[in-house]
Amino acid sequence: MGNHILLIITGGIAAYKTPELARRLMDAGHTVTPVLSESATQFVTPLALASVSGSKVYGDLFSLTDEHEMGHIRLARDADLVLVAPATANVLAKMAHGEANDLGTTILLATEAPVLVAPAMNWAMWDHAATRDNMHTLESRGVTTIGPVAGDLACGEEGMGRMADIPDIVNAVASTLKATGPLSGTRAIVTSGPTHEPIDPVRYIANRSSGKQGHAIAAALAKLGCDVTLVSGPTVEPTPKAVKLIAVETAVEMMAAVEQSLPADIFVGAAAVADWRASENAPQKIKKDTLGQSQGASEHCEISLTQNPDILKTVATIGATVGGRRPTLVIGFAAETQNVIENARTKLASKGCDWILANDVSSEQDTFGGLDNEIHLVTRASVEDWPRQSKLDVGRKLAGRIADTLANNAKTRAGGGAS
Ligand code: CTP
Repeated sequence: MGNHILLIITGGIAAYKTPELARRLMDAGHTVTPVLSESATQFVTPLALASVSGSKVYGDLFSLTDEHEMGHIRLARDADLVLVAPATANVLAKMAHGEANDLGTTILLATEAPVLVAPAMNWAMWDHAATRDNMHTLESRGVTTIGPVAGDLACGEEGMGRMADIPDIVNAVASTLKATGPLSGTRAIVTSGPTHEPIDPVRYIANRSSGKQGHAIAAALAKLGCDVTLVSGPTVEPTPKAVKLIAVETAVEMMAAVEQSLPADIFVGAAAVADWRASENAPQKIKKDTLGQSQGASEHCEISLTQNPDILKTVATIGATVGGRRPTLVIGFAAETQNVIENARTKLASKGCDWILANDVSSEQDTFGGLDNEIHLVTRASVEDWPRQSKLDVGRKLAGRIADTLANNAKTRAGGGAS
């Protein structure tokens, strides 16, 4: 799950590289909407950009059709990041002075999203005191810059003025998003997927968890700038972009990976951790006959089980039990097939966590492995019923709620300190 990048292309020769830039941003998981200035159309065609990005290409501020379909204010608001590449000396000057006389500059004035510029121009223009002052103004307002770099310039001269290389711009997009999101500067650990508990080299105890929900939460937290470690049991889900994955198999391995990854500000236990593991993991495949004989019956066998560590409870009680810093928010799931809310309340208390996302995992709900989820957010003070929605949307809603809660906590602390 990537971000939505509004790519404003202004009229420098480097504009011819922007279909490649759009493609690489999309490879990184983002969606790209190109906006072309009039002079940029001399260097790159709207058709090339539309073909690569799969998006409508915007350009004419005064097109009534565009305004009807997608007003410039909405274009500005829908972006997670606005990238100006190449950024000419002219557009940098307009941005510094708040001019808005075409679609790109109007969006730049209206957007609240982070703005990244990739300047490209003749070295003398870049060195000029006016451009230096404009850059200073923009940077002091929080605009981030990538490049320019030294090299051969379109004008035949050499110097500092080439647009930064495309992989560097793509990396700068990632770091700008990370640095400006509401959860930037925070760390989260998310567990996801099932665990596999071996019985012998070919058999294991597992459950129907797909990892979809945990992975969606990890992706949504990362999108808000959080530094996320995803500790996942075996799953075919792709690893979300910008998330550090620790792949594990068993509950004991998951516990160790979580402990190694602490401390964190946020812990979300979305994994369906097996409560039990086989007391013995046989080194060789257990033969039907052997098992039958040893237990004195050929049609019946028993496997002895040992309880696994409770990862959620361990994390929620750090400080109380093992010392160390407990995450500010410890969030668990309650996978239930009956008395969903009641059982979730009991789990909230017994595990010592802050929130429980309760869901009904009975087979008719198709929650395990399915695409949708119906959540009840249970806290000590309240129960909130979320409508049935995609697991991706549940992830986004939860990440937003976490960001709001941490921001409110910070405000309360600041307020408390001042009074
Ligand atoms: N959990 C955990 N470690 C375990 C078992 C569960 O971290 N060994 C976490 C899950 O990730 C989830 C929460 O605890 O966030 C509740 O899991 P659930 O399977 O619903 O409950 P259990 O604790 O296993 O209790 P029960 O099976 O009796 O319902």
